[in-house]
Amino acid sequence: MKAVVIRSFGSVEDLVVEDIADPVPAAGEVVIDVQATAANFVDLLVISGKYQFLPERPFVPGKLPTGVVSALGDGVDNLKVGDRVLTLAEHGGYAQKALVAASQCFRLPDGLPFVDAAGMALAYDTAWFALHERGRAVAGETVLVLGASGGVGLAAIQLAKAYGMHVIAGISDPGKADLVKEAGAHDCIDLSVPDLRNGLREQVYALTDGKGADVVLDPLGDKYFDAAIRAVAWCGRLVVIGFAAGKIPSVKVNYLLVKNIEVSGLQVSDYRKRTPGKMAHCMEEIFRLHSEGKLGSLPVTTYPLRKVKEALAALRDRTGKGRQVLLPNAPE
Ligand SMILES: NC(=O)c1ccc[n+]([C@@H]2O[C@H](COP(=O)([O-])OP(=O)(O)OC[C@H]3O[C@@H](n4cnc5c(N)ncnc54)[C@H](OP(=O)(O)O)[C@@H]3O)[C@@H](O)[C@H]2O)c1
Repeated sequence: MKAVVIRSFGSVEDLVVEDIADPVPAAGEVVIDVQATAANFVDLLVISGKYQFLPERPFVPGKLPTGVVSALGDGVDNLKVGDRVLTLAEHGGYAQKALVAASQCFRLPDGLPFVDAAGMALAYDTAWFALHERGRAVAGETVLVLGASGGVGLAAIQLAKAYGMHVIAGISDPGKADLVKEAGAHDCIDLSVPDLRNGLREQVYALTDGKGADVVLDPLGDKYFDAAIRAVAWCGRLVVIGFAAGKIPSVKVNYLLVKNIEVSGLQVSDYRKRTPGKMAHCMEEIFRLHSEGKLGSLPVTTYPLRKVKEALAALRDRTGKGRQVLLPNAPE
């Protein structure tokens, strides 16, 4: 099969597609013929060796691939050959075939195409856990989503709206206002204002009668975190999701005391490993909301496997719109 293989850590430009042996499932595993795998921001960290969890090399990157079950290991009784699945595999999606634990496969609803499911994977589950588990957001509350134009951000907008929350989208490129509005944001704030420290809070206060955001979801860190913590409402919650903007910020704990607010962190892969029941519930919820028409499809650009560099460069260089998705078995 064809696969992107990481033998040494490096840049997007170093990626190569190789011919390697097809995987063989051990007991409890299945092989899927990969139909679609999203390129995620975290892949940039993994291929460069900068992520907190790295597999032994050589390995095939690509998280949460979707595909068709094509071989079963001994003892697998929850799946059959031909099933369409979304998987929770940590790696292996940038290949024509991937090996996955059968317990980490979720059958896709009939009406959910592989490309859309791959676009949802990692983005929607991260957003779901950030909103519900860490942010404890409930209907009627105001949720400020930073990095709203990214995969996690767009997913958070859609989910928060579907659950009856008021959504404010924070974007750094005013040209992406339509994108976040189409995803369902009620309001938009500009994160590129010159005085962000005051400007972010002023914009949020103007939209919330001076109250602030009940929940802030922050995939950016850096100066965005520093500004956003000042816009959290009394008894509000800020969830740290990532540091796409670069610097890891520090928390000034006097802010927590003065307004009775909380800052918490999310590492979604921990929920995959430690609480599979919660993760299964999350996926059921996402599929349910999708089948009820409450989650629209995100804009997606698709690439054959040989264009893996282009897909990841679009993420890194912030030139792509919505999700970048690889189709490893697409006819060339
Ligand atoms: N904690 C977890 O379990 C978990 C799970 C998934 C992802 N994450 C993290 O969440 C973050 C976002 O992931 P994603 O998949 O949504 O990535 P993505 O699709 O590439 O989106 C990145 C978002 O960040 C914005 N951005 C990037 N660089 C920026 C900068 N220098 N200044 C301001 N905004 C910037 C982008 O804005 P533009 O659209 O304007 O470029 C976009 O809105 C990453 O740090 C990722 O590692 C964490």
